[in-house]
Amino acid sequence: MFKNFWYAVEFIDDVVAGKPKKVKLLGQQLVLYRKTSDNSIVCLSDLCVHRGAALSGGEIKDDCIVCPYHGWEYEPDGAVRKIPAHPERGIPRKARVDSYPVQEKYGFVWVFMGDIPESERPPIPDWSAIDDTETYRAVRGEFLWKSNYERILENGVDVAHTPFVHGGVFGNREKPEVPDLKIEESPWHCKVSVELNPPRSKGMWGLINPNKQDLKNRPPVPVSTTWYLPNMIQLEVGTPMGAMKIFDVNIPIDEETTLVKFVALRTFFKGKWADRDALRRVFKVLREDQVIVDAVRPELLPFDLSSELHVKSDYNAVLYRRRRQELIDAGWSVEGNTIVGEGPARVEARVIPSPTRKEVPELASAWNFKEVRSKELLGKQTEREERGDLPRTDSMPEKTREEEVPA
Ligand code: FES
Ligand SMILES: [Fe+2]
Repeated sequence: MFKNFWYAVEFIDDVVAGKPKKVKLLGQQLVLYRKTSDNSIVCLSDLCVHRGAALSGGEIKDDCIVCPYHGWEYEPDGAVRKIPAHPERGIPRKARVDSYPVQEKYGFVWVFMGDIPESERPPIPDWSAIDDTETYRAVRGEFLWKSNYERILENGVDVAHTPFVHGGVFGNREKPEVPDLKIEESPWHCKVSVELNPPRSKGMWGLINPNKQDLKNRPPVPVSTTWYLPNMIQLEVGTPMGAMKIFDVNIPIDEETTLVKFVALRTFFKGKWADRDALRRVFKVLREDQVIVDAVRPELLPFDLSSELHVKSDYNAVLYRRRRQELIDAGWSVEGNTIVGEGPARVEARVIPSPTRKEVPELASAWNFKEVRSKELLGKQTEREERGDLPRTDSMPEKTREEEVPA
């Protein structure tokens, strides 16, 4: 799991004025609430610095959130403004919690979990199609998944599994070949495009699908899958009826639990009457994936590239694993447990650092909770490459193709 990214944590409409909302992300509890003055959203660490109560159980007063335990009042920047038991005394410097930057965009609330300056933050992808309500009809939903978000991410962008796992929906088992992928990539994303062979259309899709010929002669369907670091997926399918786009965020609640939130757009059947069918199709695909991904072992994505075999159609997954290693090397990984200790003696709370920790050096000694540790599982990738444990970065995918495709 990684800090220093924007994470979509909730749908905008689900954060309502006057009601604090608890969310969990990267093993850490957070509280979202809307300010009374301008309705903008605040995100604080949900851990009162006094006795560890959850602020999310408290009330909103002006632009502040009031801890339900002893009534300390927290400003949007995380500083305590009032300690009701001792109104006449000053507020200690350490009476503050981390406050994280928030944006409301494309129907989601995005929280920046990290401490790097604004100019260095990875971008939120351009998902403006979600705002284009003229062109698209949208449905949205969520799916709680007891699996690791990176396994889910790799599954979501994997084109070779569709004929086998989703044979009835958008893959054709009789034609499982994956032609050459068209690849577009940047440091933060990888999009692969390919033409796949569709299965027979079912349900109401079958009624209007103009291509009713036998499966062999039906034109292929353009499909693209994109991952965006650290946990986002975009799927685009050019069905004969029109375009379908799914935007999904795989929220790492912790290492083993993922909350998938998605918006699915379509340019056909744009009436409300077809929403249920559209949702049913997304959930069917998610459940088909769930059966496979829940049984994958090891449960977490291996850190060593050579622990699993990669073939040409795994290009985007291999690139993801390389980028992830670079993020680990950059110190952006965070350990899963933020309430830590030996065995059941969990006596210490740690948090993901917010930007103020670096921006205001005078506050350096004012942070009561220490920062979560980064995962130091592996040495630098370059050292490992030099030892010969890893194929070199510039040798993909050709080298993989020659050396690792099973005979
Ligand atoms: S625990 Fe929050 S005010 Fe005491
Ligand atoms: Fe799938």
